[in-house]
Amino acid sequence: MQKLISIDKDIYYIGSSDRTKSLFENTHPTPHGMAYNSYLILDKKTAVVDGVDKLVEDEYFENIKNCLDGKKLDYIIFQHAEPDHSASIITLLKKHKEAKLVCTTKAKQFFNQFFDYDIDDRCITVKKGDTLSLGSHELEFIMAPMVHWPEVMMSYEKKSGIFFSADAFGSFGALSGNIISTDCSFDVRDIDEIRRYYAGIVSKYGPQVQNVLKNISNYKITKIAPLHGCVINGKQHIELLIEKYDLWSRYISEDQQVAIIYSTIYGNTKALAVNISYLLANLGIKNIKLYDASNIDSSYLLAETFRCSHIVLLASTYNLKLLPSLEKYLNEIQAHCVKNKVFAIGENGTWAITAAKEIKSKLEIMKGNEILEEKITIKSAQKSCDDLSVENFAKAIYKSINEKKENK
Ligand code: FEO
Repeated sequence: MQKLISIDKDIYYIGSSDRTKSLFENTHPTPHGMAYNSYLILDKKTAVVDGVDKLVEDEYFENIKNCLDGKKLDYIIFQHAEPDHSASIITLLKKHKEAKLVCTTKAKQFFNQFFDYDIDDRCITVKKGDTLSLGSHELEFIMAPMVHWPEVMMSYEKKSGIFFSADAFGSFGALSGNIISTDCSFDVRDIDEIRRYYAGIVSKYGPQVQNVLKNISNYKITKIAPLHGCVINGKQHIELLIEKYDLWSRYISEDQQVAIIYSTIYGNTKALAVNISYLLANLGIKNIKLYDASNIDSSYLLAETFRCSHIVLLASTYNLKLLPSLEKYLNEIQAHCVKNKVFAIGENGTWAITAAKEIKSKLEIMKGNEILEEKITIKSAQKSCDDLSVENFAKAIYKSINEKKENK
């Protein structure tokens, strides 16, 4: 029997973590597992906030049973219909026939699309600003369409100051006993995974994230309770994440820094990337990151693209196009509406060198980015005759970084 985990007086964590599935949404790598969060409020009335993925529903139902300890469940707050949260809701409704489902009209529609179970008499649909009193606790509903699906709502509990934020402010990674950010290291590795989650799951709809930030700006928030990752606790952690979300959703780079992303077949384009990294380092650029696109999942590269101001793309020509790994990266940044970046492009090939043209045509479809005029082309491998153009390429990147720093 799992110990009850309280995140505030009479508010319990009833989620669980999975460490068996290697891909979230069958797409994003989860080398450190994944947490599926849900919460239960005990008052005169009782409410479960959201469900979990089927992977962890046994623990979820056990936690609910232990938490209720014989009390009846009055409400299921159904904030998001995606199956990593809704898969367990139908069983919860069947187990607790007295419970009402509280959701948006769109969530009710999605429920009916996913499940064959009549909820007409059990569903309370809510809209912006509606409230639900549980006794001393009261939930206010905040609409958050497209963060990350159209039916999403979030909830603010007035007594505790807990903001139940659905997918927003979530993270990849399982929880390991400590549920609350102030009980964890909450260091750069945690922020990296929160950023990767934002970039991969939430980032497509920056303006809608801005709306949420505006809508919650007057709430006194003591904790943010997302559907994945740890509960964000305390002023320092909350302000840090709201600041990050504000930057990411406005597509503003966190760091005036360079990520060099290369695709290489036999190592010659990698050698070019390494040379450029040393040239940039000699010019005084700090914290340069170098990535082989074929050996890191594109979700990490997308997250780095959100973080860094300058992205250097160096590509081998492959079948008159690009290596699939670099294609995938470019498709990802296009799908997630990346903006306000400076891209620098270099290419390699033995004959019919087309990589730079391919990259440029993909970047040009996206709006609001800059592509540096300086471009480098090497044939098969960098030779001494290429050194000057490679140096000039590095200098152009250095100049652009400094200009961006000055204009910041
Ligand atoms: Fe965690 Fe959009 O579902």
